[in-house]
Amino acid sequence: MNYVTLVNKEFLIKDSFYNGIDLTDILNIENKKIKIEKNTYNAYIKLKDFIKDKLNIEIGIDSAYRSFEEQQDIYNDFVKKYGIDYTNSIVAKPKTSEHHTGLAIDISIKKDNKFLIENKDLEKEEETFKKIHKYLYKFGFILRYPKNKETITGYPYELWHIRYVGEIPAKIIYDNNLCLEEYLNNYSGVLVVNKKKGMTSRDVVNKVSKILGIKKIGHTGTLDPMAEGVLVLTIGKATKLGELLTSYEKEYIASCNVGKLTDTLDITGNVIKEKYPTNKINYNEIIKNFKKTYMQEVPKYSAVKINGKKLYEYARNNIDIKLPKKEVTIKEIELLNESDNTFSFKCLVSKGTYIRSLIKDMGESVNEYFTMSSLTRTKQGKFSIDKSYTLEDIYNNKFEILNIIDILDYPKIILDDKLYKLVSNGVRIKNNYKIKDKVLMIYKNNKLIAIYENDNNVLKMWKKIS
Ligand code: DAL
Ligand code: ZN
Repeated sequence: MNYVTLVNKEFLIKDSFYNGIDLTDILNIENKKIKIEKNTYNAYIKLKDFIKDKLNIEIGIDSAYRSFEEQQDIYNDFVKKYGIDYTNSIVAKPKTSEHHTGLAIDISIKKDNKFLIENKDLEKEEETFKKIHKYLYKFGFILRYPKNKETITGYPYELWHIRYVGEIPAKIIYDNNLCLEEYLNNYSGVLVVNKKKGMTSRDVVNKVSKILGIKKIGHTGTLDPMAEGVLVLTIGKATKLGELLTSYEKEYIASCNVGKLTDTLDITGNVIKEKYPTNKINYNEIIKNFKKTYMQEVPKYSAVKINGKKLYEYARNNIDIKLPKKEVTIKEIELLNESDNTFSFKCLVSKGTYIRSLIKDMGESVNEYFTMSSLTRTKQGKFSIDKSYTLEDIYNNKFEILNIIDILDYPKIILDDKLYKLVSNGVRIKNNYKIKDKVLMIYKNNKLIAIYENDNNVLKMWKKIS
């Protein structure tokens, strides 16, 4: 069940969703039998009890799930009572109402021992509703048609219409003052994950995408299944910034086995050479010699492309191909541990450095065979493992998504309405700001519109963001 499914004037409910809802029967405030989605109801009960305890306000359900026929009846009733214009402004046409999802609830509040029914009576209780709204997210609900979002949601401020989206999206939507449309289409950020061994980087993206209900998520700097640690995910519009985030230097802790070489250069591969050292190896000395810039051969099991094909595709088909070399810099490196035929080290390296190749190269430098046995990325640029979140943290809603404006180290230009129009249309502007490289073009509410860059004292579009 996708709890953030969007149903509005533009996105009609899908038949597959409509036919697959797990509904339960309840009685509403007028003792009428109605239906509601099961998890939504469970969350609602918790909300209701909390509101009674905390605020001493009694809430009840007026309306929840509606079939297409029921929505049509409500629509027709409203037309009869209030005329077509008013009806169209506040009642959705069948198939466009999110009440069809079973996830929406119109709540009422008790006043003088009676639940209020009429919209005009509910509207008088704005102050009471506002107190309730503050706690909705804790139970996985959002206020679906908030004030000042009318042009986006298509409906005026509705105090009573709440929508279950699940606790994780609800908190993000509340914290960032978004409506559901904005969350699904415009929300962006960076999430630093601590990947566990065994998963591919794609697996992590897919899991997070499911948890957040957001399709557009990417990752910067792949970690192989055997590697763990910092994997930086880009969410929504931030996927456009992947290249800025991968270019950072990276810090790793690696462990190595001595005496074997494998085809993949790590212990998941097939052993192709074997020879154990006869003399004691001075690991410190070897490691010290690798604090340098050198031309590193790309591993044959890597995604680097030659003639449109990835190197590992050649390797899997046993096709020999000359492996390209790339310049890498090992900025810092230190031995952490050593014992019989194993050692580990920590290093800070430039973008594009392969640690398993570095380990093979270290072995070659003393005519021995070294193979990587484990790898942890502890840092990617400013993102470090101490401020990263495991999938478990994320499932438990214990994580923070970073704002892209805060993490990009470029100057900012705050746009007035005139500049906003120009920048939105990609118009070049004079560099009166003494910008040397890139600059963030920001409009109201910290919204990153575009990244511009200096070109001979003219600022021109580098990338449009939103
Ligand atoms: N009042 C909301 C928009 C509905 O009819 O679904
Ligand atoms: Zn409603």
